[in-house]
Amino acid sequence: MAFISSGYNPAKPMEGRITDIGPREFTEFLPPVIKANKGKWAYHEILEPGVLVHVGESGDKVFTVRVGAARLMSVTHIREICEIADKHCDGYLRFTTRNNVEFMTDSEDKVAALKADLAARKFDGGSSKFPVGGTGAGVSNIVHTQGWVHCHTPATDASGPVKAVMDTVFSDFQNHRLPAPVRISLACCLNMCGAVHCSDIGIVGIHRKPPMIDHEWTDQLCEIPLAVASCPTAAVRPSKVELEGKKINTIAIKNERCMYCGNCYTMCPALPISDGEGDGVVIMVGGKVSNRISQPKFSKVVVAYIPNETPRWPTLTEKIKHIIDIYADHAMKYERLGDWIERIGWEKFFELTGLEFTQHLIDDFRDHAYYTWRQTTQFKF
Ligand code: HEM
Ligand code: HEM
Ligand code: SF4
Ligand code: SF4
Repeated sequence: MAFISSGYNPAKPMEGRITDIGPREFTEFLPPVIKANKGKWAYHEILEPGVLVHVGESGDKVFTVRVGAARLMSVTHIREICEIADKHCDGYLRFTTRNNVEFMTDSEDKVAALKADLAARKFDGGSSKFPVGGTGAGVSNIVHTQGWVHCHTPATDASGPVKAVMDTVFSDFQNHRLPAPVRISLACCLNMCGAVHCSDIGIVGIHRKPPMIDHEWTDQLCEIPLAVASCPTAAVRPSKVELEGKKINTIAIKNERCMYCGNCYTMCPALPISDGEGDGVVIMVGGKVSNRISQPKFSKVVVAYIPNETPRWPTLTEKIKHIIDIYADHAMKYERLGDWIERIGWEKFFELTGLEFTQHLIDDFRDHAYYTWRQTTQFKF
């Protein structure tokens, strides 16, 4: 396509430059009923999975229909969201913190028309464009990351496994059968962008081999002390090698100290680590961020490795579905996955789920690993 200038002048880059204006103020986009009742809500109810009503002290009502979204979406899809909002909601809509979309209206008959319209919209492949759900004690959207779509450090994909998992647990997006909400999150590397470390179920991409070292470029592309300081287990050290008769500054890695976190590659482009067969995912469970009854918890690793099985990750999806089903059968009302496991004990969790307990699951990182071992005779056979 031929170049079309926006009016920006590359010869005078600072001329006419607008900066530090921040985001648009949210009140500009509030539906009238929200604006009128802001800060004066009396109560709310979940009418059915995906549909809420909030009632103001004034008696005003706002009905909210929550729909699933793939997070990664085209402008075409956003335009369709806008078209729906124009048709049913006077042009207003919002996105949730789990990247679902919410359409709001001020009367119940408008909800019925909106729901019928949403249900009729499908992609050519058959998937629902706007599945209604994600409320109450079910499984809402999966908080996820870039994967092979955009990042350079992933050990797995994001959009692919998320679609595979949501297909598998779709009925729980549209139902409230669980003891409490189950939050699933995915990160494609141990940087854990997002919420995997504090979710009921976390999926994280891992490597199983140390980085390769591109000696020829190490000193050219990298600030070597940064790579040394990036290693949590001090496996990286500066060194010299002879390459084509020339002595050069480079990096050496103690493979037996490396646990393949990939941090050094983040700092130094000459340390690529990804590997088709080595890479895969771990499953973590039992995290939460709310303060309800129990304090917030980190999620804990319960499956040390599952291979990347593109495009549908069948082993991963089967294990996640199984964990959710066992939790649904055994936990008490209001118990989050982590609350349930801590009540019954981790050995019982492994027994009930049939997950294999391997030595990989025993913490061995620094002093605090000790506090994850068991200093008591209390356990179940
Ligand atoms: C009121 C004082 C300051 C303000 C408001 C300010 C603001 C900012 C902002 C907005 C950024 C960009 C962050 C981003 O990329 O998202 C930034 C980056 C940075 N600032 Fe400041 N800054 C201040 C003072 C300083 C001072 C005193 C130093 C160092 C002596 C400093 C060093 C840096 C550095 C190293 C970066 C990162 C640049 C990079 O990412 O390449 N800043 N600062
Ligand atoms: C021999 C001296 C130095 C070398 C070889 C060096 C090298 C580098 C390299 C390789 C980077 C990374 C660039 C990138 O990520 O694209 C960097 C970033 C940077 N350096 Fe230096 N540096 C030197 C001295 C300094 C000094 C003296 C200062 C400040 C007083 C400084 C401030 C910074 C800052 C602010 C950044 C950007 C960090 C960021 O991305 O947030 N550097 N330098
Ligand atoms: S989790 Fe890692 S690989 Fe994924 S987007 Fe974040 S930094 Fe990139
Ligand atoms: S991958 Fe991680 S553990 Fe291994 S050398 Fe690099 S920073 Fe250290």
